[in-house]
Amino acid sequence: MLFRVKLLGLIPPEIIEDVRIQTDIVGLVSEYVRLEKRGKNYTGNCPFHQERDPSFSVSPEKQIFYCFGCQTGGNAIKFLMLAESLTFVESVRRLADRAGIYIPDVESGADNKRAAREEKAWKANAQARDFYHDYLLNSPEASGAREYLKGRGLSEEIIKSFKIGYAPASWDSLAVYMRGLGYSPGELIDYGLLTGDSSRSFDRFRKRIVFPVTNPQGRVVAFGGRVFGPAENQPKYLNTPETQFFNKSRILFGLEQARKAIKEAGYAVIMEGYMDVVTAHQFDVRNALASMGTSLTADQGKLLLRYSRDVYIAYDADSAGIKAASRGLDILQQIGCRLKVISMPKGTDPDEFLREKGLDGWHRAVAGARSLLEYKLDVALSSKKDVSDIIEEVLPNLAEMKSSIEFEDGVKTVASRLSLSWEAVWGEIRRYKEHMPKIWAKPDKITKNTHNILKSGKPKDALSRAELGILKILVENPEKLSNIRSVLGDDFLQEPLCCEIYRVVSGHMDSGEYNPARLLDQLEEPAAGFLSRLLMEKNEGIQDPDRVVNDYINVIKKNRQARKRMILMQELATAEKNNDIDQVNMILKQLQEV
Ligand code: CTP
Ligand code: MN
Repeated sequence: MLFRVKLLGLIPPEIIEDVRIQTDIVGLVSEYVRLEKRGKNYTGNCPFHQERDPSFSVSPEKQIFYCFGCQTGGNAIKFLMLAESLTFVESVRRLADRAGIYIPDVESGADNKRAAREEKAWKANAQARDFYHDYLLNSPEASGAREYLKGRGLSEEIIKSFKIGYAPASWDSLAVYMRGLGYSPGELIDYGLLTGDSSRSFDRFRKRIVFPVTNPQGRVVAFGGRVFGPAENQPKYLNTPETQFFNKSRILFGLEQARKAIKEAGYAVIMEGYMDVVTAHQFDVRNALASMGTSLTADQGKLLLRYSRDVYIAYDADSAGIKAASRGLDILQQIGCRLKVISMPKGTDPDEFLREKGLDGWHRAVAGARSLLEYKLDVALSSKKDVSDIIEEVLPNLAEMKSSIEFEDGVKTVASRLSLSWEAVWGEIRRYKEHMPKIWAKPDKITKNTHNILKSGKPKDALSRAELGILKILVENPEKLSNIRSVLGDDFLQEPLCCEIYRVVSGHMDSGEYNPARLLDQLEEPAAGFLSRLLMEKNEGIQDPDRVVNDYINVIKKNRQARKRMILMQELATAEKNNDIDQVNMILKQLQEV
């Protein structure tokens, strides 16, 4: 059986329904994908597979999404499940949370244990953040830190909006406070708030200015603490270590605050540090975020791609940063970002640059940003002599260019900067590409289990076309059910997946409760993806659905007769062979009827 009714369990169905009604799928998807309005629907680049041209659609009217590229589809709950790797129940809980819908705590299965633990970690971190933030704003001990931040030009407003805090000098201020809220030392160690072991633990952050790190949904997942005051043998920054709840390579500092501005500006700016981002936001450069001192990862790039393809890098040219970052930049380009590098004077980071040159200076620097290719050429030209060494540096970048315009531009740039002919550069690229590992040929796990009918795209023969066509019209026009049924009965589809969809859809229509977005919750894959496709595909050029339905019905009827005739002919042959005259006559009569 292809289709099973899912056990929704745990959460009462009327609450799931409520969550779905209260969630606007366009708003939800927009938090992950840059959408553009196209007719009735919105389209964008699919977050579930890598693509260059948008084949991902969202229908506000039907409250579903579907990707024509990887055949993933469903309702808002499904979207969040895929986007955040959640189970059904976890996803409903998050959406309920967003919508302010209360879900009574049902005794939970293993299913939402993980989500519950994660929620608890987030909550603890949020409470720790509030503790540190309060401490910075109000405690006498933090007056020096307040002065320091003021001296660095941060307004109270920006301190409040990033909820910057201060961790007191004592060994256990946070530990005592959090234990008062009911957390055990073991849990606090798990969350990265304390260090040590169960016999002896103490506050991880002491005498530091703390920057809370959030995920794009605004949950506090980690902290970065900057030393304050004299600190021998102490690293300038101390960060929450990787925990089961915090994976550094999937988080960008400031993304929560920046994501709206990134979409508006059409590009993101990646900086190196906490201070850079906070200062940038204070200067109204709100599309800024930071990689927190590590090389950029593909996961971070994918996160960014949900908001923008264009990414500017603003690293201190003098720091070890940009050289170490170079690999990260290539990765970002590989997954489809278009990168530019903003130049700043050596030894200056964006924080210092903005204070010195102001917003105007910043805008000039942004306008003068070089493409990653040009930037690499400049660096290579200033440090290397041999043309073939230089070209080797930039070949990966040329080979990864996603559009032909960009590519042609790139070849032109390299040729002219290195005084080579086009052909020579071309030849190098060809040679490189032949040896290049195939990075794109990775099928997504989502597409792996798609059914034949989904894979094959357009059905080949008239019968499959008619079956699919009728189903497509039916899922959009429930009122056509009775006509179709009166002529064809309920058992007229051949393709198993179509049969299942028909069975479920007609069942819902009969009960008078047909609602595709709700129905999708009860379908497993590949049925859910298939129904999403039927709902999302345009019934192009159909002016008169009734006539089209009748045409399809005729095709199906004819085919049915043909099949019946074939069976009768076979039976006739057997009967003749057996000299069964009665049987022969009966079959002949039936044949005439057909
Ligand atoms: N960083 C880190 N651990 C360190 C040093 C740096 O995690 N020991 C990360 C932090 O995210 C920091 C970034 O790298 O924000 C950049 O480091 P740096 O340029 O030294 O600090 P700034 O952010 O410029 O801080 P400040 O201006 O206060 O010196
Ligand atoms: Mn700095």
